[in-house]
Amino acid sequence: MVLNEKLNPTSNPHLPFGDQRGAPFYGKDILSVKQFNRQDLAYIFEVAHEMREMVTRIGTFDLLKGKILASLFYEPSTRTSSSFTAAMERLGGSVIPINEVKYSSVSKGESLPDTVRTLECYADVIVLRHPEVGASAEAAKYARKPIINAGDGVGEHPTQALLDLFTIVEELGQVDGLTVTMLGDLKYGRTVHSLARLLSLYDVRLNYVSPEILRMPAEIIEEVDGKDIPQAEHRDLEAVLAETDVLYVTRVQKERFENLDDYDAVRGLYVIDAETMTRAKAEMIVMHPLPRVGEISMDVDDDPRAAYFRQMEYGLYIRMALLAMVLGKA
Ligand code: CP
Repeated sequence: MVLNEKLNPTSNPHLPFGDQRGAPFYGKDILSVKQFNRQDLAYIFEVAHEMREMVTRIGTFDLLKGKILASLFYEPSTRTSSSFTAAMERLGGSVIPINEVKYSSVSKGESLPDTVRTLECYADVIVLRHPEVGASAEAAKYARKPIINAGDGVGEHPTQALLDLFTIVEELGQVDGLTVTMLGDLKYGRTVHSLARLLSLYDVRLNYVSPEILRMPAEIIEEVDGKDIPQAEHRDLEAVLAETDVLYVTRVQKERFENLDDYDAVRGLYVIDAETMTRAKAEMIVMHPLPRVGEISMDVDDDPRAAYFRQMEYGLYIRMALLAMVLGKA
């Protein structure tokens, strides 16, 4: 199940012919987790496994030699931008980094469609982070080259959700049967929006723990409900901590608040520390998309259940897999 087929060999004179044609995801945009089914996910994870093996064995290799990624970030990023760069370079390709759009022609008023039309003259794929919901889908309407959504405002962060799910599979062996508890800012946290949707393809139970003003949006709850996934909302983590297999912690997103008094009222409400972990299962994992700003204490970092640093590394293999796939080399 894929969206927006591009680079059609019959219509695109710039298509490089060869083994790319017919490859799953070749030339496709990655805009939302809604475009994936379980079979797609199994395939992506299989390719990610191969990438991990290759990086472990030889580090860098030439699968995407000669290919260029435009990395276009209108919002700050450490992990997503640097892991896409590392992924492209591990695959032998190169990167046009535009991490400070204020130094690009965006600051002169250039529109998003014009910017992506420009970058696709120079690059084979564009990774885009933008503060507005739907910006990647909008960009994809104008671009002939694949657009990968690296976060669109409070909308989605599909590549993060893919790496999150890959983390769960790698750490716990399977997804079916798990209880996943999402904690913190579920309103503005785009990673939990994407992850809840992706998890609804599996036989899971979802708990949402948040302050009243940061509840999971009704639209997501309705969508997940449509897949008959049991969901429960709580204010207190203790109500569900003991039954939790995956505790997915999120940062309260200060930058999304219109009123900072509201932010002050909820900041620091949930803090996971070593004492909290004494009431969690012996076999479970704690995840976080990062950055963290105090919601997981550093005294949890050495707990083997703390998966958030390993989670970042899984992201490299997932992004290598996605780049190889959309460029027809997987
Ligand atoms: N998880 C994540 O999206 O991190 P960055 O904002 O650093 O990219």
